[in-house]
Order: sequence, then structure tokens, then C-alpha cells
Amino acid sequence: SRVMVLNGPNLGRLGSREPDVYGDQDLSALRVLLADAAGETIEIDLRQTDDEAELVRWLHEAVDAASPVVLNPAAFTHYSYALRDAAALVTKAGIPLVEVHISNPHAREEFRHTSVISGIATGVVAGFGFDSYLLALDAVRRIMTR
Ligand code: DQA
Repeated sequence: SRVMVLNGPNLGRLGSREPDVYGDQDLSALRVLLADAAGETIEIDLRQTDDEAELVRWLHEAVDAASPVVLNPAAFTHYSYALRDAAALVTKAGIPLVEVHISNPHAREEFRHTSVISGIATGVVAGFGFDSYLLALDAVRRIMTR
């Protein structure tokens, strides 16, 4: 089966973007880490876009394919009701969607303390660097096998 790992705006710049906050590894390193952790039975479909509409379309695709989602909505986390509604389509269809953050937004600026996604997500993992994605993948795997 396939797990979609969807990443929002500016995450294509990982590695060079604020390494003190997000670490020095880039998305291709993340792809390798996830593929290793996923093993043979799970295919990791890792994507990144700066485009809100594209993220919305990808979530529709997850619904149609019944693919579990690991979602780092990046800054859209804090204000995109369009993304929230699209993510709700996933979880309301009974498909797991785990919100992830590399940093711990609650330990940062005030505007990062609000997530419009968390209320409709299956669960949230934040603050563990790239391990947040691996923990989220584990969570998805546990849900799928229970
Ligand atoms: C982030 C946290 C967001 O506040 C920020 O806008 C990001 C990345 C994280 O992974 O820590 O772009 O989602």
C-alpha cells in the first residue's frame, strides 16, 4: 500500500532554510529515511509544493485512492481553511491523516500556536526534527494494522 507524505510551502528549501530550526538535511534525505523505514510493503509517495491549490488536489487524490496521508502543511497550518476542509475530506472518509511539524510550533512565535488542521487530523506529531515524519509513519502503520 501507499502512504502520501505531503509537504507545503518553503519545505523544498529544507537543508538551507533556517538550519538551526529545521536541520541541515533536505527533502531527498527525508525520502531516503522514509523509504528505509517503510520497508517493502509500504510505498512512500513524498511530494512538496508551494501551491495551496495543488495541496488541495493531492488531498482529493488521497481520498479517491484511500491513501493514508502524512501532512506537513507548513505555514498553511496556521490559516488555510481550504486545506483544512480538504484534509477533513480525508479523515471523514475514515482515512488516517497525521499532521507533522519538524519544529515545535508551540515553542515558537504566537502565530504558530494555532493550527486550523489539528482539529480534523487523526493526530499530530511535532518537534522531533525529521523523526516527526518517521513517528507519523509509525502511527499510520499502527492504525493500518489494528
Ligand atoms: C513547520 C512549522 C510551520 O510553522 C512553518 O511555517 C513551516 C514548517 C514545521 O515543520 O516545523 O514552514 O510546519
